[in-house]
Amino acid sequence: MKLVIDGLHMEYEDRGRGTPVLLIHGYPLNRTLWDPQMKGLADTARLLAPDLRGHGESNATPAPYSMDMLADDCRALLDAAGVNTPAVLCGLSMGGYVALAFCRKYPERVAGLVLAATKMGADSAEGKAGRDKSAALAREKGAAAIAEAMLPKMLAPQTAANRPQLVDRARKMMESTSVEGIVGALMAMKERPDSTPTVKALDLPLLVIHGMEDQLIPVSEAEATRAAAPDARLERLPEAGHLLNLEQPERFNAALREFLRQF
Ligand code: MLT
Repeated sequence: MKLVIDGLHMEYEDRGRGTPVLLIHGYPLNRTLWDPQMKGLADTARLLAPDLRGHGESNATPAPYSMDMLADDCRALLDAAGVNTPAVLCGLSMGGYVALAFCRKYPERVAGLVLAATKMGADSAEGKAGRDKSAALAREKGAAAIAEAMLPKMLAPQTAANRPQLVDRARKMMESTSVEGIVGALMAMKERPDSTPTVKALDLPLLVIHGMEDQLIPVSEAEATRAAAPDARLERLPEAGHLLNLEQPERFNAALREFLRQF
């Protein structure tokens, strides 16, 4: 389905019935990341998955983007889809940063939060410099160079070694992202604020879910999030890397299904 806001054509998937769940993909990915959840959970909830601006089939507006801007896009999508009750937000990695920005801006629209393969903190000085380097690489050599650089860290070692189709799928997702979208998202991540106070102030059900073999954002980050929100539930998935929902779809879906029961 398509939504048009101020020059942005935003593509999204809307499937199932029940509690609205907004699935927000990471960088530099797209909504097809959530295919296993669309297939496995549409009998449980109404699943909405956008392509963030500059990603997938949504068009790219000029960089830079910000987490607030991406959160505004998500809110516009919920409005356009007629979701006027609070939704559960489920963000993976950069999608988690967007979800936390959404919680700051529109707390009344959030019923619950799932933070997958993400972290609370802002970028370090070194991390910010890395964003600039990646942006330069994307401008110079295109999305394929970004995919090449990121792929080794995206999946658990055993996934990378034994599941060539999944590796290929992750690579294609990254390669299909527009350069403007890559740079826009990198700048949004570089400038994002520390969300620790946001997590500490959350007054809603929180599920933190993380692959035990995540090489991009270590599982210790999920443990830190859980420590900041003692009522949160923490699920550590074995044999899963950064793309845990693709690598271990049954386990991921079981955790989400269980979490969604309370709404
Ligand atoms: C992501 O997977 O969304 C990003 O790589 C996260 C990050 O770089 O901070």
